[in-house]
Amino acid sequence: MSRTLDYLFDQNVEWAHRKTRLDPGFFRRMAEQQAPRFLWLGCSDSRVPANDVLGMDPGEIFVHRNIANMVHTSDMNILSVLEFAVDHLQVEHVVVCGHYGCGGVQQALAQTRGSMLDHWLQPLTMMYHKHRARINAIPGEAARLDRLCEINVEMQVRRVAATPIVENAWARGQPLHLHGWIYAIHDGLLRDLGPHLSSIDERDALPSIDQRVVDPVEPVSAMRRQAMDVFAKLDLHEAASCSCCIRSESASPTPSALPD
Ligand code: CO
Repeated sequence: MSRTLDYLFDQNVEWAHRKTRLDPGFFRRMAEQQAPRFLWLGCSDSRVPANDVLGMDPGEIFVHRNIANMVHTSDMNILSVLEFAVDHLQVEHVVVCGHYGCGGVQQALAQTRGSMLDHWLQPLTMMYHKHRARINAIPGEAARLDRLCEINVEMQVRRVAATPIVENAWARGQPLHLHGWIYAIHDGLLRDLGPHLSSIDERDALPSIDQRVVDPVEPVSAMRRQAMDVFAKLDLHEAASCSCCIRSESASPTPSALPD
């Protein structure tokens, strides 16, 4: 087996040629400056690459990734990225993006302890332990994990919102919007979980994270909302022509708000 990775250099050359062929000025523009509007705080999982899932080119999104998309307020790495993105690049949006089935988050549910990862995940593990009875009552291991993945996204958005970097940006009137998203590897789609925060007042008005665990904005709601948006945009005539969608007069009563 080769000890060098020549094939990766070959792939790189192919990629650079393809880019240049499609857009001769691409690399010249890249070299001049970067002006991304988005900061992505995501998981290191190899299946969730920010640019790819958003269909974005280099230069369009500033990225920080770590295991389980955690935001530690003592983590110089993430704080440096956040400060540079907010203060210097002046990004308008900070997205915390988790993903369902996250192996990092899974460790927070595990019984074994002692690895570095357990230290890394400690705030999430504590959250799980605090609400263990409620989370364990969710039927199915995968569903429990997915719920914890969602809770983790919301926790980390709140942690971003609590940093002096973001507080100062909001205090000086800089437009800065925080988002909590989750990605599903099985279908390649993003879900908007919230919270959406654009000011200190909005942050301070949030119910406690404990309250959100007890009274969740369940993923079904976010998915249903998106599905409803899609259906709302469908051509009604097109829908009516589908025989399986045609209601008979004797069918069970439908809400009057629905189109006939
Ligand atoms: Co992950």
